[in-house]
Amino acid sequence: MYLGIDLGTSGVKAFLMDERQIRIGSASVEIAVLTPKPGHVEQEPSQWERATDAAMLQLKASYPDQLGAVLGIGLSGHMHGAVLVDASDKVIRPCILWNDTRSHLEASELDGKPVFRRLSGNIVFPGFTAPKLLWVQRNEPENFARVRWVLLPKDYLRLWLSGEHISEMSDSAGTAWLDVGKRAWSSQLLAKTALEVRNMPALVEGTEPAGTLRAALASRWGMASGVVIAGGAGDNAATAIGMGTIGESEAFVSLGTSGVIFAANDGFRPLPQSAVHTFCHALPGKWHQMGVILAAADSLNWLATITATRPAALADEMGDTLQAPGAEVFLPYVSGERTPHNDALIRAAFTGIGKQSDRKALTQAVMEGVAFAFADALSALAKAGTRPSRAFIVGGGSHSRYWLKAVATALDLSLDLPGNGDFGAALGAARLGMIAATGAEPLSVITAPAIAETIEPVAALRPAYGERLAKYRQHYQAIRSVQN
Ligand code: XUL
Repeated sequence: MYLGIDLGTSGVKAFLMDERQIRIGSASVEIAVLTPKPGHVEQEPSQWERATDAAMLQLKASYPDQLGAVLGIGLSGHMHGAVLVDASDKVIRPCILWNDTRSHLEASELDGKPVFRRLSGNIVFPGFTAPKLLWVQRNEPENFARVRWVLLPKDYLRLWLSGEHISEMSDSAGTAWLDVGKRAWSSQLLAKTALEVRNMPALVEGTEPAGTLRAALASRWGMASGVVIAGGAGDNAATAIGMGTIGESEAFVSLGTSGVIFAANDGFRPLPQSAVHTFCHALPGKWHQMGVILAAADSLNWLATITATRPAALADEMGDTLQAPGAEVFLPYVSGERTPHNDALIRAAFTGIGKQSDRKALTQAVMEGVAFAFADALSALAKAGTRPSRAFIVGGGSHSRYWLKAVATALDLSLDLPGNGDFGAALGAARLGMIAATGAEPLSVITAPAIAETIEPVAALRPAYGERLAKYRQHYQAIRSVQN
């Protein structure tokens, strides 16, 4: 048996599978996201412990024998968060999350130092970890003075599970402190935020052992003590491991809270100015690129909230037949944008609203706007030399047929829906746990799911979508020039 624990932004999922990778069961427990001020997004690491414990006790209640037979655990988690830990392993302040934009000035300042793009291969985005530490140093010097360790969210969970300070390449690549080509911490980059390599966890590959389960937790959950914990992965690389996205230019689109186009690479091919993210993959000798849009399904969540309905109800109103874009245009920048704009301050906009613009028309514009944001991200990947020929599509928004067709048409790409079963980050984590525990050949473990259905671009609407994409791009320039 193998266990994957995925620390998501909205909850922890614990996933149990057998050695044939057949799902035994899973348990999910929600966690709160705190927004104490505009642009500030935080979580209490103690809540991750509580949620993981609750999920494990649920698994224990339903599958005690199988849990007792677990040989390997893998971890996955939301990326870029800063967990500050003191010399007695106590958390100093709440974790500052990936979608927190408070440190946008510090990010531009660090990004202005050429060494960051040269060694990390990426723009220093406000969501990344390094600018957060510069913000803490300047705004909370008493907290900064206590920092002994800076840990990523899933690596804090590892500390709680095993007592070890260890990270792995895929998540660490999103800190802006890693020399991503060399897969090693850069003392030069750390020094720019008054930190040293000793403040960072030891590094392993995602497939390697990185700690063992503490005896107290093992007995509480009815597990063997000393079970191996794999390095694991950041949530996007873990999803790729779950989807079998490891070969050159193999890709998936994630239409989740944030939106991601992820493609695997055999080499390190950074192009920071495109705002593409170039990170290590969770397998040795492999990298990946991503275009990241900050609000994908979250844009529809916003519309649902202000129209006092649920996102699924809005999606149902659209039916299944893709329409040509109407008068309304939506820019989905409710939380700023990463790829391709690297613009933390831009905010969303509707234009073309007339008296005929009903709720359905606004939903259509939101779905189209997100589809065009994905098209921008795909163009950025192409500039960086990554041109997927098709992609899997996953994430909550992919339940909407209309949205799937809009994204396929905007990208002009066939999108494969995975068949029923498990293919997310928790499965990816469990697979890494299996490889670390058994030494299994990664390629024999990391396979792609069956394709249930392929969503093709709607050829008749390609011209209309192409025209609207051009107009959408002009909108960004125009709105940028009138916003602060
Ligand atoms: C990736 C990113 C998000 C988070 C979401 O760079 O910021 O996808 O990992 O959990």
